[in-house]
Amino acid sequence: MEPHHPPVRAERFPVDESASRTANRRDWDAYADEYQATHGEFLGDVGFIWGPEGIPESEMRILGDVAGKHVLEVGCGAAQCCRWLVTQGASAVGLDLAHRQLQHAIRINDATGITVPVVEGTATHLPFEAASFDVVFSSFGALQFVADIEQAVAEVARVLRPGGRFAFSITHPTRWMFPDDPTPAGLLASQSYWDRTPYVEVDDATEQVSYVEHHRTIGDWVRLLAAHRFRLLDIAEPQWPEGHDRVWGGWSEARGVLTPGTAIYVAEAAG
Ligand SMILES: C[S@@+](CC[C@H](N)C(=O)[O-])C[C@H]1O[C@@H](n2cnc3c(N)ncnc32)[C@H](O)[C@@H]1O
Repeated sequence: MEPHHPPVRAERFPVDESASRTANRRDWDAYADEYQATHGEFLGDVGFIWGPEGIPESEMRILGDVAGKHVLEVGCGAAQCCRWLVTQGASAVGLDLAHRQLQHAIRINDATGITVPVVEGTATHLPFEAASFDVVFSSFGALQFVADIEQAVAEVARVLRPGGRFAFSITHPTRWMFPDDPTPAGLLASQSYWDRTPYVEVDDATEQVSYVEHHRTIGDWVRLLAAHRFRLLDIAEPQWPEGHDRVWGGWSEARGVLTPGTAIYVAEAAG
């Protein structure tokens, strides 16, 4: 959870797929310039990290050897991860909900000379043929913004070739017990881990839902992957690196050295 555009108030109430998508598209379009200005240098124009801990794919090797593989990133933002994968010999395509994020992707494509094709769309309707990718991944991209997660995972299963890899990082499900506060005050559990009611921001001026994130427990994710015939290979929980003092929303050294902030699910499609 990374509150975006004050003045908003944070609430918890059910929000369906259509309302989640409308709010999050508007939010990410409006927030894209600030997001890239704030985090772009840390992400690197040609860089692949899995979350605010800053641990790169070159170290984690979650996707394995991608040389010669066709890779889709869902919720690619400015496609920094895809660009790094291209340097490793992959052909990569990025998909994102927010037009403005993709304009940043095109800007960085031009600046770096590493051109990643990008597509505007949503995780619940991937505009690709069945079995057309070897790898589908998301680094804090779409999955926690989607209400209809069944449909999103079904879509990934559809576009992956048999035996293909699916990996995604999300806010660690246990973080939903704590207030979204990077200071030590954010270490006091105050919300039920089992409460799946989404986190919602409501614009004070318009009373519109302006941002939504959805929570699933660790077990929910395992059951969801199993239901779509994925074989779960790992749930990586990157440890906060010693001396890493960058604050990103609710992620900080104060919390990171004590509790996991990121979970990376790694799975293989049925063969
Ligand atoms: C935290 S950013 C991560 C982007 C990129 N992976 C990075 O590390 O900068 C989340 C991205 O997910 C995108 N997103 C949100 N909901 C989505 C959806 N339903 N389908 C596709 N992308 C979505 C947002 O537009 C945003 O660019």
